[in-house]
Amino acid sequence: MLHGKKILLGITGSIAAYKTISLVRLLVKSGATVKVVITPAARDFVSPLTLSTLSKHDVEWELFKDSAWTNHVTLGRWADLFIVAPASCNTLAKMAAGQCDNLLLAVYLSATCPVWLAPAMDADMWAHPATRRNLALLQSYGNLVIPVVAGELASGLTGEGRMAEPEDLHRLVCEYMAARADFSGKTVLVSAGPTFEPIDPVRFIGNHSSGKMGIALAHELAGRGARVILVAGPGVQAPLTEGLEVVRVNTAEEMFAACVDRFPSCDLAIMAAAVADYSPVQVAPEKIKKKDGSLTLELRKTRDILKELGRLKSPHQLLVGFALETNNEEAYAKEKLQSKNADLIVLNSLNNAGAGFGHDTNQVTIFDRKGNKTAYPLKPKEAVAADIIDYIHDKIKP
Ligand code: CTP
Repeated sequence: MLHGKKILLGITGSIAAYKTISLVRLLVKSGATVKVVITPAARDFVSPLTLSTLSKHDVEWELFKDSAWTNHVTLGRWADLFIVAPASCNTLAKMAAGQCDNLLLAVYLSATCPVWLAPAMDADMWAHPATRRNLALLQSYGNLVIPVVAGELASGLTGEGRMAEPEDLHRLVCEYMAARADFSGKTVLVSAGPTFEPIDPVRFIGNHSSGKMGIALAHELAGRGARVILVAGPGVQAPLTEGLEVVRVNTAEEMFAACVDRFPSCDLAIMAAAVADYSPVQVAPEKIKKKDGSLTLELRKTRDILKELGRLKSPHQLLVGFALETNNEEAYAKEKLQSKNADLIVLNSLNNAGAGFGHDTNQVTIFDRKGNKTAYPLKPKEAVAADIIDYIHDKIKP
């Protein structure tokens, strides 16, 4: 049910922490890989040894251990889902305020995956306006708050504030992951990164593309059940993910051949690579020596991969291109939609701060063939990838 899914469980100092022992068991039994991060206070309620034995991974709570730094960014990026259960009043308040005085909070602030919060507290704390405000803030950050249930509380009172039962949390995770498997059975081609066009054995014409956007798309699709073929240009740091095949290429011509070769077996192709438009006509067999005067290179146009896939496209296939523009963005994006026979063009403008090459964030506008234009705010590239894939799924239905 949860095979290949990576779940990070955050446990805070609340009596309900004991229930998470069965949550870890249920998640692991369903095939998920589970890692646990706890607050220092949670250790009074549940033993790290029990949790590490059940999860088969070390349980972390320190930002610094033996004078070494614990990499919270890696944990937050590793997970498909981060569940904080139980989420105490204190931790919810710190999360809402953006405080960061323990490892769990640092993971929360750097997590790029969806975050679920399963609060647990006394009825009066639950009803307090400060808690209401903190929960509203956390929801405004995009976090999902799992409703508490009414019943007997640790204080002896009866009322609202009990954490959802482990079985219910487990069911919600399974339902969420099943709904996210909306690309299972689909094969998707993604191109990413730059191409390098050789001038001589030591020099090339390249560009600043990092491939991060293409990787984020490939990762999102693999997480949603697709078989992904990632055609990656030089220097692209491709993740090792289940369901992801990486085809390494260097030049525009090699990328063309790899994409055209694999496209017929694909349901969807997303061309996110920054392909060189021109390539040297002659590649010098030896290193070109410096001489007086200038040097002229003759360049020939490379073959346009997106355009070729647009020509080859059959009715069941979808084709998505990117447009990176510095001026007349909308007109150029719409023109590319037509000239390349693409179903969608994702425009990212170099005029937007934080968007485009090398950044971890991007700001895109999607144009489709029905004339729709959808603009998104600046977001981490992983979140942009989720928006693009959601758009493809909801608007065009692969
Ligand atoms: N593209 C491609 N093959 C090329 C050039 C571009 O597949 N030889 C794809 C890119 O991956 C992207 C889209 O075409 O999805 C648009 O790329 P872009 O560089 O914005 O546009 P170009 O077509 O190269 O046109 P121009 O550089 O004049 O804007």
